[in-house]
Amino acid sequence: MSLLEVKNLDIEYQTKKGSIKAANDVSFSIDQNEKFGLVGESGCGKSTIAKSLLRLLPDNGAVTNGSIMFDGTDLVSTDEKTLRDIRWDEISFITQSAMNALDPVYTIGNQIVEAIQTHENVSKKNARNRAGDLVELVGLERERIDSYPHQLSGGMRQRAMIAMALALNPRLIIADEPTTALDVITQDHILEEINTLTDTINSSLFIITHDISVVAETCDKVGVMYGGELVEVGPIEEVFVNPQHPYTLGLLNAFPTIEGGEDELITMPGQPPDLQDPPQNCSFYERCPYREERCAHADPELTRRSDSQYAACFVSEERDIGAEYESVVDKEEVWLKL
Ligand SMILES: Nc1ncnc2c1ncn2[C@@H]1O[C@H](COP(=O)(O)OP(=O)(O)OP(=O)(O)O)[C@@H](O)[C@H]1O
Ligand code: SF4
Ligand SMILES: [Mg+2]
Repeated sequence: MSLLEVKNLDIEYQTKKGSIKAANDVSFSIDQNEKFGLVGESGCGKSTIAKSLLRLLPDNGAVTNGSIMFDGTDLVSTDEKTLRDIRWDEISFITQSAMNALDPVYTIGNQIVEAIQTHENVSKKNARNRAGDLVELVGLERERIDSYPHQLSGGMRQRAMIAMALALNPRLIIADEPTTALDVITQDHILEEINTLTDTINSSLFIITHDISVVAETCDKVGVMYGGELVEVGPIEEVFVNPQHPYTLGLLNAFPTIEGGEDELITMPGQPPDLQDPPQNCSFYERCPYREERCAHADPELTRRSDSQYAACFVSEERDIGAEYESVVDKEEVWLKL
C-alpha cells in the first residue's frame, strides 16, 4: 500500500472575479521511502496541491472533490485533532521562505524544542539536546539554537527550517521550492542535504520545483503538471527517457542536459490556460506542436503507458512523439529553437 494516495483531487479558490480551478482531477501516489518530484510552470497548481495535503489552503481555497489517503486516514475529511497530530509528527512541510515559516520572536532552539514537546513526552533538557543535534545535522553550528531567525542568513534560516522539519522523524517531508530564494551554490548544498537526510530518517519526500534537473538528481518518480492537471506521471527513468506528453518533452528539451551536450534547446512560447475559465478540450492544445483536430474537441484522460507511467495525450497513445521531435521542431512555429 502507498504511504500517500491522492485520488481525483479538485481544488478551487473563490475570488471576486469567480472561482479558479487550481487542481483538476489530480491523482498520484507516493510509497514509503520514495521521492516524488512535482514540476510545472508557475501558477499550474503545485503549491495548491502541497498545501492541501496538510489542510493549509487559505480561507478562500477548498478541496471540492477527491481524497488524500495517508496511511489509512483521509486528510480531506479527518477531524482537526487527528490532523494536528499528523502535522510535523508524520508529515512536515519545508516552504520556499523560512522567514514566513519561522516565528521571529523565538530562538531556533526554542521553536524546535516546542515542536518536539508538543508531540512527545520528553524533558526540556532532552529536547534541547536533540535540537542541538538537529542543527548540527543540517550543517549549522550547535550554538545557533540560541539565535533568532533574523540573526541568520537566508541559507541558514532555510537549514533551520529543515532541522525543524526533521525534528520528529516524519514519514513524509513536503518541500515546496525549498531553495528558490537562495544563491545557486547554497541551493545545491541544501538540496543535497534534504536528499540525504530524507534517507537518514527513512522518510518519503514530496518535492516541488520549477527545475526538472533537480527532479532528475533527487527523485524516483515525477509528476508533470500543466494548467491544474497532472498530464504525466511515472518513474524518472521512464518519463525522462521516453516522455509520453508533449509538454514533458518540451520541458526536457528546454533545459540543458547535465552532460552539456550539443543539443539545441527549445522554448515553448504562449501562456498556460486561464484557470478561471479552463478549456474543455486538451489544456495544452494552444501550445502543442503535435495537436490535431480531435484535440480541439476533447480532453484526454491519463492512460497507462507502461507498468507505472501514465500520460494524458491522444497522439502519444498512438505514435512515438519522441521519434517525431526533430521534424516537429523543424517544421512548427509553435516551439522555437533557442
Ligand atoms: N489564495 C489564492 N486565491 C486565489 N487564487 C489563488 C490563490 N492561491 C493561488 N491561486 C491561483 O491558483 C493557481 C495555482 O497557484 P499555485 O500557487 O498553486 O501555483 P504554483 O504551481 O505553485 O506556482 P509557482 O510555481 O509560481 O509557485 C494560480 O492560478 C494562482 O493564481
Ligand atoms: S492531446 Fe493533442 S493537443 Fe493535447 S498534448 Fe496530445 S497532441 Fe497535444
Ligand atoms: Mg508554488
